[in-house]
Amino acid sequence: MAKTTSVSEAAAAIRAGKLVAFPTETVYGLGANALDAGAVARIFEAKGRPVTSPLIVHVDSVAMARDLTVEWPESAKKLAAAFWPGPLTLVLFKAAIVPDIVTAGLSTVGLRMPSHPVALALIREARVPIAAPSANRFSGLSPTSSAHVAAAMGGQVDVLLDGGSSAVGIESAVLSLAGPVPRLLRPGVVTRAEIEVVIGPVEAGGRPGEVPGDNVAHPSPGMHPKHYSPRTPLLLGSPRCEGRGAYVYVEERSLENSAVIQIRMPREARAYAAALYETLHTLDLQSLDWIAVEPPPSGPEWEGVWDRLTRGAA
Ligand code: TXA
Ligand code: MG
Repeated sequence: MAKTTSVSEAAAAIRAGKLVAFPTETVYGLGANALDAGAVARIFEAKGRPVTSPLIVHVDSVAMARDLTVEWPESAKKLAAAFWPGPLTLVLFKAAIVPDIVTAGLSTVGLRMPSHPVALALIREARVPIAAPSANRFSGLSPTSSAHVAAAMGGQVDVLLDGGSSAVGIESAVLSLAGPVPRLLRPGVVTRAEIEVVIGPVEAGGRPGEVPGDNVAHPSPGMHPKHYSPRTPLLLGSPRCEGRGAYVYVEERSLENSAVIQIRMPREARAYAAALYETLHTLDLQSLDWIAVEPPPSGPEWEGVWDRLTRGAA
């Protein structure tokens, strides 16, 4: 693996069909030329990801996104104007140039224009859309720094492009525009309410097995009940009395087990999300018996955090 801050070097690797881990504002991605089926196949091998899980394709412009779809509806136009570049993925019917392996055989493709300047520069310089899942082993914790990528996947990546820590800290919201009513398949820091202001009613929650248009693949690997997990057992609730563990909390409380490492999290949802994976990665390195996370506050802006914690703890 070559670690670099050179966008040109990483763009050349993408064009040569290689795997490039790169920063986005949400989490680091494991990227390949989305139009090169052979390169995309290597993403699945490197992650140990089932080929039934579709990938997000990253673009540097609305024009590039439109070229990958058969239709760019009014809703997509409005959402891209409101939220791109940024942490919202739109699922639309795909154009024939998108290889089937990218979409796991689905007739739809997930598209996102990231806001991280290094990600945008990489796509621009590579001059091709970049297919990328999060740069972690399947079902593991997503990386929010190049150090996380190097630790989890260093051996499988050709080039690791460093761009600092990911500011958003959890994966993008995924919204399907392929059905009769828009459906939020994965919550993120862009909330359902914010999307509804722009396009009207949105249904909540992905339904495993239900994909508008066809039924070939699982619609959202992020919907597998177990996902986003550290290696250390993650509990959503009170700390255990026995063993060495860590307690991650917003509201402080006194603990019986004084050996517990205590980590205080921000009270604001976006700041909490930004710190969550970094905190879990750090604790995961400490060979603890458990990590207990206090159930965070409820409310629409906490949906993305709740989703990742409940799946991480499953
Ligand atoms: O923030 C993110 O989304 C990050 C960065 C790298 O962009 N990527 C990411 O990718 O989290 P991944 O592969 O870990 O998650 C992709 C999500 C999955 O839940 C997947 O099912 C959904 O997007 N997805 C992709 N294409 C889809 C499609 N055609 N239909 C339904 N869901 C799709
Ligand atoms: Mg992932």
